Parts: sequence; C-alpha cells; structure tokens
Amino acid sequence: MASFVVILLAALLLPSQSFPPHKQPLNAATSLAMSSSQPSVAIVGMGVLGTSLAKQLLEGTDYTLMGITKSTTRHQDIRKELCDGYEERLSLTTMEEALSSGTQYQNVVFCAPPSGFEDYPSAVADASKLRSKTKDGSFIFTSSGGVYPDTFDGEVVNESTPLEEGNPRKARGIQAEKVCLDNDGCVLRLSGLYTLERGAHNYWLEKANGVVKGREDGIINLLHYDDAAGSVVAALKVGPKVNSGKLFLISDGHYTTRRGICENALKSKRYRGCEMPTFEGSEGETRGKIYDGSWSEDTLCWKAKYTSFDGFMESMA
Ligand SMILES: *[C@@H]1O[C@H](CO)[C@@H](O)[C@H](O)[C@H]1NC(C)=O
Repeated sequence: MASFVVILLAALLLPSQSFPPHKQPLNAATSLAMSSSQPSVAIVGMGVLGTSLAKQLLEGTDYTLMGITKSTTRHQDIRKELCDGYEERLSLTTMEEALSSGTQYQNVVFCAPPSGFEDYPSAVADASKLRSKTKDGSFIFTSSGGVYPDTFDGEVVNESTPLEEGNPRKARGIQAEKVCLDNDGCVLRLSGLYTLERGAHNYWLEKANGVVKGREDGIINLLHYDDAAGSVVAALKVGPKVNSGKLFLISDGHYTTRRGICENALKSKRYRGCEMPTFEGSEGETRGKIYDGSWSEDTLCWKAKYTSFDGFMESMA
C-alpha cells in the first residue's frame, strides 16, 4: 500500500515542470525507477552508442534511465562519464539482475552489438520482456545495414528492400530484427558508425598495416555515433503509434567510398601523419549499396547533424 502511494505521488509529481527531475529527493527518484508508469528508458548496452544516447536523454528529456550491461565491470566508468548532476536519473544494473527483478520500463532500447552474445536474437527477446506490458512506450532495436545482401553493385536500397538470410552473420541480424518487429518493436537499421577515434577509418589507417581488404571504390554509408543516438531519441519521441512494427534505415544521407574515407580522415589533425593504405579488392567483388533513408527521415522527423563523414573530418582539420 505504502509503495502504491509513493508511485501515485510520483506519477502526480512527474509531469510538473516546477522543478527539474534531477533535483527531486533521492528516495522519490529511487521508487520512480521501480514504477512502470513513469517515463523511463532502459538502455541495454552501454557502449559508445548507449552512452551517447544516455547523455542525450539526460540532457534533453525528463526520462529516468536504467543502463543495463552484461557485467558490472564498467559501471564505475559509466557513472563517472554520465552522472555528474544526474545521479538520481541514471541507475545501472546487469541484464541478469534486470530480468530477475521483473522491473518493467516504459521504453526499452537495445543497442548492444552482436559480438557480446552467443544467441543475439534471444538477447533481443529477453530485452523485450523489460518493456511495460501496457506498451505505451517504445521497444527499439538498433540493427545494422550489414543485413543487406552483398550482391549490390551501386544500386540504391531502402527500408523495403528484400533481404536473404545468406551467411550466418546476416541470418543472426535478420532474426534479431524479426524478434523485435514481432514484439511490436521498432528496428533502426544503422549505417557504419564512427567518431573521430572509432570506425573503419581508424582501423584502416592505424591498425590494418597499410592494407585494406576491399576495392577502393567500394561504397560505404556512414553515421556519426551521436546521430545514431539522436535517431533513437527521435524514435522515442514519435512513440509506438508511429514506430511499432516498423523498420527504419538510418544514415547521414551522403555515402562515400573506402578511399574517400581514408582521404578525408587524413585531412583531420588526428590522422594527419598516417599513410594512405593500399586497397585489395577480390575478383568479382561488387561495389555495394547506397542507402536511401528519406522515408525514415520524414517519418521520424529526424536528420543527421553530421551530414557527411567528409565534412566531419574537415571540421577536425
Ligand atoms: C523503396 O524503393 C522502392 C523502389 O524505388 C519503392 O517502390 C519503395 O516505395 C521505396 N520504399 C520506401 C519505404 O521508400
């Protein structure tokens, strides 16, 4: 009974703008995190993408956040990076604890890469159980454009381009997308992600020993990590009435090539001393696909802030 009153009280207090939510007394915030009716977001996966998303939600919305990771190893670091001023609005837990506690969240975002899971589709299914049964919030899965077939040779693909399961890596991604859509979720199929320090350019210029596998004019569609996180915020904003059971294709709208990526990264201060690698395409290798995510941009009312990798790297000169 007592906890019911606290939840009711919290529900009454929350929409009020009279004081910022992070200034609420600690005990109220703690019980808020346990309620399913409050505007909350559980973020499964607190890597670069999950952390950028958490930052944008803490700074731009009133959501209470639960960051969910595999182990507690990085919790201290995540707190250090995110919590300053937001102690009451961000909690951290492990997936195991989150599932066994039975706590439900209005919105759930799955943004952990497949590499950390033996069974990726069932990890997405587990995450869907964290979503409130009322389904008044969103379930969002960040997938990757890697699910498209490798047979494209310069053609344009979009949200309705058919897939073929092909190799096991693609099948795993496609099945995870299906689990999400079958649970009234929303799939955001993301382009290749980058920051100044991370992404294909970093690997090719600093770690690939001067040799890039793949033809130099191979087409690559990119997206800054912060824009990827921004697209998740946009999907949360439009809500389940718009995003439920839908698949979106998210890119910055300006494709480039393997050579273009290296040339442009070399313009930045960070990579100026690096050498241009050589490219080794294989026989019969196709050029790849060009993303057209204009339907997604319109539907989510979203557009990338970093409109091209080239422009981003020029700004880092
Ligand atoms: C994708 O492209 C095809 C072929 O141009 C078009 O018929 C279809 O409407 C497009 N889908 C979306 C969601 O824009």
